[in-house]
Amino acid sequence: MSAPLRVGVAGLGTIGGGTVRLLRENADLIAARCGRPVTVVAVAERDKDHAASVDFGDAELLDDGLALAERPDIDVVVELIGGHGGIALELARRALGGEKHFVTANKAMIAHHGQELALAAEKSGVTLAFEAAVAGGIPILKAIRESLAGNRIRRVYGIFNGTCNYILTAMRDSGRPFADILAEAQALGYAEADPTFDVDGVDAAHKTAILAALAFGQRVDLDAVRTAGIRDLAPVDQVVAAELGYCVKLLGVAEDTGAGVVTRVEPCLVAADSPIARVDGVFNAVVVDADFVDRTVYQGRGAGAEPTASAVVGDLIDIARGGGWHAFGVPAGRLEQAKPAETALLSSAYYLRFAPNDPRGAIAGIAAALNEAGVPVANMFSDRAPGSVIVTTGTAQGAAVEQACASVAGSMALAGTPVRMRIEEF
Ligand code: HSE
Repeated sequence: MSAPLRVGVAGLGTIGGGTVRLLRENADLIAARCGRPVTVVAVAERDKDHAASVDFGDAELLDDGLALAERPDIDVVVELIGGHGGIALELARRALGGEKHFVTANKAMIAHHGQELALAAEKSGVTLAFEAAVAGGIPILKAIRESLAGNRIRRVYGIFNGTCNYILTAMRDSGRPFADILAEAQALGYAEADPTFDVDGVDAAHKTAILAALAFGQRVDLDAVRTAGIRDLAPVDQVVAAELGYCVKLLGVAEDTGAGVVTRVEPCLVAADSPIARVDGVFNAVVVDADFVDRTVYQGRGAGAEPTASAVVGDLIDIARGGGWHAFGVPAGRLEQAKPAETALLSSAYYLRFAPNDPRGAIAGIAAALNEAGVPVANMFSDRAPGSVIVTTGTAQGAAVEQACASVAGSMALAGTPVRMRIEEF
């Protein structure tokens, strides 16, 4: 058997603990598959409770994660601290600059600094790997980068945030309020340290930007992702969606329109019989539409210690076997500047919910605003939830629907911003 791959793990929180446990519990199997052991030689964690909760065997416990980048007895640094800058970024720069392979689950850092880090890895001749950054345990980056590499990809979309999917599923099944369910998702270890990243769509935007870079050979462009979250949604949205044959999901979508790439994260209605409508709870799903393979669908646990550890260890195993791939599928210097297309010009049917003081009295005004903006009305309900008028539209441009909503908001008193969701046909 060859020399071990020597690993340093920075951060022993949920994912760090899971990664160390997986490497220890399946050590024999991993060594057999790699032809060499994958051994944790040092871990870094400042929180004493976190450190005490993980059995890291003979590995040395350090206070300072940055020290891992300096040690000559480490081949790979695994960063599981989080945050798009700060220590995580410094560690990435030092490790890659010091010719150590670098594995991370940090979607925020890759979404903000992916190209810089990929360039640094290539300059040093080491591997940058971040499978765990997108869709937890689902090996979607590897699938796009390797198995589907012969295809021209048209669209990648799906459910990329387990916390939001957990909340939307529980809202649908129990009718319980948003805040209670979010607290539950946090207790289960699904949510980000700052859960606004989950519920406002930011976490899914990080993942969408990374997927777009891989799928379309473009630089990661987080600013181009039009992002909306789920905090304004209520159980009634799921009830009415179900009545109409749909289900509400927070989708990330990256799509080549021919006139540029659209990237967006927003709650949408998807047909109840579509594969992603049936993906519930913390599960994620990714759908790739490509020219030769057509449609492939991937589903699995998108968050939590064990599935995410599975992805981190998969990267370590690939590195132990030789590594050397380009993080975004092509040399980082050849990634093209993204050419974003205007999301507001996309057309679809819409679901809208307004909260006027007098729902029955508001119907005529809402219908007139939609008509004036050229948005056809398909259904209108004022009796599904107290204080609500719900509308479904025919096909209309996003910009026209936005204008109609603004016009309603300007013409009558509403409690809160109107809820606006596309009704997707894919
Ligand atoms: N907070 C994320 C989620 C964790 O809920 O999906 C995995 O990226």
